[in-house]
Amino acid sequence: MKSKFEKYVPFIPVELPNRTWPNKQITQAPVWCSVDLRDGNQALIDPMNVQEKLELFHTLVDIGLKEIEVGFPSASETEFEFIRALIEGGHIPDDVTIQVLVQARAHLIERTFEAISGAKNAVLHFYNSTSTLQRKVVFKTDMDGVIKIAVDAARLIYKLSKPVIESGMNLRYEYSPESFMGTEMDNAVRICQRVMEELHATPEKPVILNLPSTVENCMPNYFADEIEYFISKLPNRESAIISLHPHNDRGCGVATAEMGILAGADRIEGTLFGNGERTGNVDLVTLAMNLYTQQIDPVLDFSDINKIREVFERVTKMKIGERQPYVGELVFTAFSGSHQDAINKGFKYMQEQNSDMWEVPYLPIDPADVGRQYEPIIRINSQSGKGGAAFIMQQNFGFDLPKTMQAEFGAVVQKETDRVGKELKPERIYDLFQSEYVDIDAPYKLVSHAFSETTDAEGNSHVSFKGTISHKETVFEVAGEGNGPIDAFFNSIHGQRMDRFTFVDYKEHAIQTGSDSKAVAYIQLRGQDGKDVFGVGISHNISLAPLRGILSAINRAKRLEAKA
Ligand code: KIV
Ligand code: ZN
Repeated sequence: MKSKFEKYVPFIPVELPNRTWPNKQITQAPVWCSVDLRDGNQALIDPMNVQEKLELFHTLVDIGLKEIEVGFPSASETEFEFIRALIEGGHIPDDVTIQVLVQARAHLIERTFEAISGAKNAVLHFYNSTSTLQRKVVFKTDMDGVIKIAVDAARLIYKLSKPVIESGMNLRYEYSPESFMGTEMDNAVRICQRVMEELHATPEKPVILNLPSTVENCMPNYFADEIEYFISKLPNRESAIISLHPHNDRGCGVATAEMGILAGADRIEGTLFGNGERTGNVDLVTLAMNLYTQQIDPVLDFSDINKIREVFERVTKMKIGERQPYVGELVFTAFSGSHQDAINKGFKYMQEQNSDMWEVPYLPIDPADVGRQYEPIIRINSQSGKGGAAFIMQQNFGFDLPKTMQAEFGAVVQKETDRVGKELKPERIYDLFQSEYVDIDAPYKLVSHAFSETTDAEGNSHVSFKGTISHKETVFEVAGEGNGPIDAFFNSIHGQRMDRFTFVDYKEHAIQTGSDSKAVAYIQLRGQDGKDVFGVGISHNISLAPLRGILSAINRAKRLEAKA
């Protein structure tokens, strides 16, 4: 008995021993054509209405698309109406070409000419299917029969276009041997050559030959071989614009397009976010942004990708996946600790080096280039490391934790993520920081205090400190002197029960909250057991912030002791 997978017919690659495309590089963006309003639209559960199509059309224009397939006007009244609305409503900029699709059938071609009447620039795109499979099971005809369908259509189109061109329309032609990828390459060349002849293709008026992988049925390298082979055999190659129309059945649409460009293609048809029949058409956003990361101007503008996504999701009622390249909710988020650390270091490195190159590990692009923000880059869950929480505190709230403190706070956050078993939002991390380090005034609390400072002739300062401290039910007075507020405070608590720590380190900086500027002090103390503990003090007064930090550290040490 056969195994189930044995019923599939494997792809037979074209023979191309001297292929050249693997040694090539992409150096410029191809000509882009959006098929969102046709291939994308026909694959929607609820196809777009005229209003929705208009909104998406304007979005495509704003992105910078200059060739837009706007529909299949002979297929339905809505399609026809939309194209009339576009033309009659003056929605098409002078530098944008609309493209319309039609089957290679006479009455449909005639109706299509009616639809585009009055357009300034148009591409009439006709197709018929050519693959061995389609010939066998759908059309039940041989290659000559299929060529005749294409040639008859081309002849009619050429005839009908004469008066249209004379009336001033810049009309071009596109022919698709639909299911090209499953067609014998010599047959694909034959049919395209005949179509070019019928359309009188010249280098000045080239025909677009659109070579679809209607159903992606092979690895992208085999498809690239087909393209290189096809181009090498096509007479008058300079009278053709080679266009690709990859679908994504094997999930390789982007690679197919990229390798196809290496193999000589000039133009790519695709859709935003890869919408389209079944697994979709090739994703223009990914293709364009892939070029962008290689220092190639994609000529398309995705600098506000969230806005494009919002329009797309609303009009198509499709949802974009969380991991969709360049746009998904999670694509600029690093959960794992080592990734977070490296990203953190990348940002710091760029800042320190004043680097104008993008040198952040794990982030292939600067999220800001697509209008995304740095804040959600790092989220905290149980896989996150010490650097992540510190990064959130810095990026979101302006707290620049000393390096030595990051592990301690990381552990506090880690404990909470383990407890709740899910991601912590930045606000929750902030709350944890506050309750762990700032809102901690027991058992010791500074009830009141006074400083006085004098500076001698050499510029040395001398600080006297007096304070009232409460400890549970008791209140006691302290006083001390020193060369600064921290020194004076430390000396003032000398001999008290809280005097069991040595001062290790201190860092202070300003934090801005709205128009309000405060000082935050991070204090590192060492207990008699040799363990370090950190405290944080915040105050409008830069002398008071470190004292609060010292008390925070002492109180935390007591709290940790009690828990141990
Ligand atoms: O996928 C395809 O082959 C098509 C053609 C009509 C170009 O959409
Ligand atoms: Zn298609």
